[in-house]
This record gives sequence, structure tokens and C-alpha cells, in this order.
Amino acid sequence: MSVAKDSNNKKVTVHTLENMALKGEKISMITAYDYSMAKLVDASNIDVILVGDSAANVMAGYDTTLPITLDEMIYHAASVVRAVNRALVVVDMPFGSYQGNSKMALQSAIRIMKETSANAIKLEGGQEVIESISRILSAGIPVMGHIGLTPQSINKFGTYAVRATSHDEAERVLEDAKALEKAGCFALVLEKIPAELAKRIAEELTIPVIGIGAGCHTDGQVLVLHDMLGITQDFSPRYLRRYLSLGDEIRGAIRQYSADVKSGNFPNEKEQY
Ligand code: KIV
Repeated sequence: MSVAKDSNNKKVTVHTLENMALKGEKISMITAYDYSMAKLVDASNIDVILVGDSAANVMAGYDTTLPITLDEMIYHAASVVRAVNRALVVVDMPFGSYQGNSKMALQSAIRIMKETSANAIKLEGGQEVIESISRILSAGIPVMGHIGLTPQSINKFGTYAVRATSHDEAERVLEDAKALEKAGCFALVLEKIPAELAKRIAEELTIPVIGIGAGCHTDGQVLVLHDMLGITQDFSPRYLRRYLSLGDEIRGAIRQYSADVKSGNFPNEKEQY
């Protein structure tokens, strides 16, 4: 599959990503949570849109991703899917919708696919979620794994610091990566781990490995939309590149509008009937 063909509207599938990784073509992935932003993202040559449970932070203002519910994720995902023609849409399974009970995991995944028409789901964890992953895959639902820093386990780890800096934890993350590939995940997100470890994992796996704070050797990269656009301004991890200061732009525009209303400058004669 050529890059040119992909940039023209051909729907991205899990097989497209597999082929891209095999050919060494980098995969771009970004989050979106609503119709209007997803429409802009889909028109911007992005391969994968993640309806992340980071919606809990950037859309709902929670400190962690734990409170967002399955119903709320479905609402966000259905809004995104209505906007998207080209990108593959992956939906995060929220905390509490899959851990420890593979039957519930399958029911949650089926609800996401049925009620949103998304293309795949993502869930956090390694060997401890393999049973849930296998059950979801048995229903024909593609699964993306997510290891390294797993924000749904913040209460276990106590910090959002970089993970797998010790030899033992690095080996565990590598074993988890292999287990997820073996279980049938079509791709894997590695969050906030040393670049050298991410390189090793990307080399040892054949499925696409997408990094966030995991260096430049992975098959692709993912960022949270509101962070890279500069809508959120109080979150500045080393890995985050801000492509815009949209927060400043928005504040400036709204201040100007308010001033225009108060001064009687808006609306003018051409802006009325
Ligand atoms: O929820 C999210 O946005 C994510 C990305 C950080 C990978 O899981």
C-alpha cells in the first residue's frame, strides 16, 4: 500500500498498520473525543484516532482516568466515529470495564463496537489481562495493548514517572509485550519507558508498536490532542512537543469578542438583518 494512496481517503484498517510497520512507514496516532475535532483530525492525514480515556482529564477535568464510565466513553466514541472517514478509530476500555473478569470484558467490548461502530478497542495491562484479550478477540474485535506507564494503575504505582528504569521491570515489560503479541493484539502502545527498551521491544515484535514518551525507534507515535495543540497548558512532560499555543489563541479571541460586545463594536451594520 503506497503512502499516496493512504493519504487519499482509503480507510485505514488494522492490516494497513501491519503493512506500514513491515515496510518501515511510521504510523501517526492522536486522540480525539468529539465530532468537530475528529473531523479536523481525520482531514489531517492521521492514521489512527484514539478515543482515549484521557477524556477523563482533558474533557471532564478529573485528576485521573479512573472515573470515566463505559457510557461516557461510548458517547465520545460515537461522536468521533460520525466524523471520521479515513482513520482507524480505536476506543479505550475504561477502568472497571474489563479488569479481572473476561466475560465482563467481552460484554464491554461488544457494547463499544455495537454502539459506536469504532474499529478496535485498547486496554491497559500485560499478562494479567491476557484472558480478557483472548475472549474479546474471539468475538472478532481487534485489540490494541498498552503497557509501560498505565494511567489506570496510578494508585498502584503512585506516580506518573517514567517506568521500567530497573532491569527487572524492563524485563517484565518486554515479557508483557511478547505475551500481548502472542495473544493476538494487532498493535501495542508503549507509554513513558526508556527509548532503548522501546527500541528492543519494537525490534522483537512484528506487530506495530506505537510510543508516547518512548523515544524515536517505535513504529509510530501517539499524543493527546489537547496537549500537542496547547489547549492544556499545565502539563509539560519532556516527551510532549507543543505544535500550537491554541489556549492563548482561544483566550485572545474570546477576550476580543467580549470587549467588542461591551464597547458596542459587535455586531456592526453588516452583521445584522
Ligand atoms: O488515553 C489516552 O489518551 C492514551 C494515550 C496516552 C495513549 O491512552
